[in-house]
Amino acid sequence: MGALGLTLLPSLISKGAPSDRLRIAHIGLGGMGNQHMEWFAALPDVEIVALCDVDQDHLSSTLAKLKALQPDSKATGVEDFRRLLDRKDIDAVTIATPDHWHAQIATLAFQAGKDVYGEKPLSYDIREGQVLLKNLNKHNRIFQLGTQIHAGDNYHRVVEIIKSGAIGNVHTVRLWKTGFSPGLGNPKIQTPPKTLNWDMWLGPAPYRDYFPERCHFTYRYFLDYSGGVFADFWCHIADVVWWAVQPKGLKSVVARGEKTGEVADAPKWLDADYEFENLKLYWTTNPPDVPGASERGIGAYFEGDKGTLICDYSTKSITINGETVEDLPGVSQTITRSPGHQQNFVNAVKARTQPESNLNYARDMTLPMHLALISWRLGGRKLEWNAAKEKFKGDKEANEFLSRKYRKEWDLL
Ligand SMILES: NC(=O)c1ccc[n+]([C@@H]2O[C@H](COP(=O)([O-])OP(=O)(O)OC[C@H]3O[C@@H](n4cnc5c(N)ncnc54)[C@H](O)[C@@H]3O)[C@@H](O)[C@H]2O)c1
Repeated sequence: MGALGLTLLPSLISKGAPSDRLRIAHIGLGGMGNQHMEWFAALPDVEIVALCDVDQDHLSSTLAKLKALQPDSKATGVEDFRRLLDRKDIDAVTIATPDHWHAQIATLAFQAGKDVYGEKPLSYDIREGQVLLKNLNKHNRIFQLGTQIHAGDNYHRVVEIIKSGAIGNVHTVRLWKTGFSPGLGNPKIQTPPKTLNWDMWLGPAPYRDYFPERCHFTYRYFLDYSGGVFADFWCHIADVVWWAVQPKGLKSVVARGEKTGEVADAPKWLDADYEFENLKLYWTTNPPDVPGASERGIGAYFEGDKGTLICDYSTKSITINGETVEDLPGVSQTITRSPGHQQNFVNAVKARTQPESNLNYARDMTLPMHLALISWRLGGRKLEWNAAKEKFKGDKEANEFLSRKYRKEWDLL
């Protein structure tokens, strides 16, 4: 049945009757996890059956929020996500933990027969992306990356216009995101709160003593867990480039940047130059010196041989022969509009087809972000990349960054 795409969801089997409700558990209940819960709670064909967090305060407050939204909810809360993977009445999980947990949880979920809606970035390193893809295919699972802007009409329209050839062959793209990663001062080590399982929060990352800045939300400014503003925003804007232009055959990357200088160690800012077979791609912290960029805090500027297109999440303008317009009515609609990022995932799970931000796509799009961080960590060394082998050419030190060593007790893969 799997080969025919007719795999039945466990919950449908256990109910023994046709039902189109997908049973979901949410893992990681901070800012984004609460957003997941609210988004999925609003879908008619979803039942939220469980919530999970290593912080009891986050678990109980999100459970209370869910019960306020759905007074009949029977959802239960757990601290250890592995207890959810054991359950036969859960079809899919969403993951909104910090980045260093994404791939381990998603891989174990695939192995347990669950589909996954997982937050960006896809993984902490390159090897984790490879492990995820292998397990997705082996276990015939569905995956959607949580880049919800992908579902908006603006990106669909930008892609249509670029793919129509209206601005010609795109040879260069400039991406930017303004704003610095904060240094977070020099906080003192504290005893972790009794309500937080700090050892499990750290999980596969190296053991570190606790202070609050290392934990909720601001973890993203530590290299043990993420990569600062650059890693936080890459996927949201690189997404439109991978969809519209499909950069292929990455050849080299070189990154420049500055350390925050306080306790946080992710780059305060990072700029990177990439050379692909079919494209030159630049990431900068300051907007590039092109029309319309300084008005946008984040953006993509596509340079084609017939014109240019600049966009952010919700706006775009196209310049051809010196004339700037907001749309090209002559370009017809060729891409089906999304029913919403979460509904797109739910529909894909039911149909056993991969959704728009599927794992293959997400992995290709995320990989260059990791490589720029490695170049920066190596002092801005230009790195040559073998795209077929997914290894740096002749650079043992750089290759060591492609896969992190997990803490022994939290190496779950
Ligand atoms: N798609 C978007 O627009 C968007 C926006 C914000 C954040 N994100 C992503 O969402 C993820 C979470 O970000 P955030 O800002 O919500 O962080 P956060 O610190 O607010 O929340 C993370 C939660 O995960 C919990 N957690 C940690 N380890 C866990 C584990 N092993 N099992 C269960 N729970 C665990 C933490 O206790 C915390 O409650 C990040 O990967 C981030 O990149 C995406």
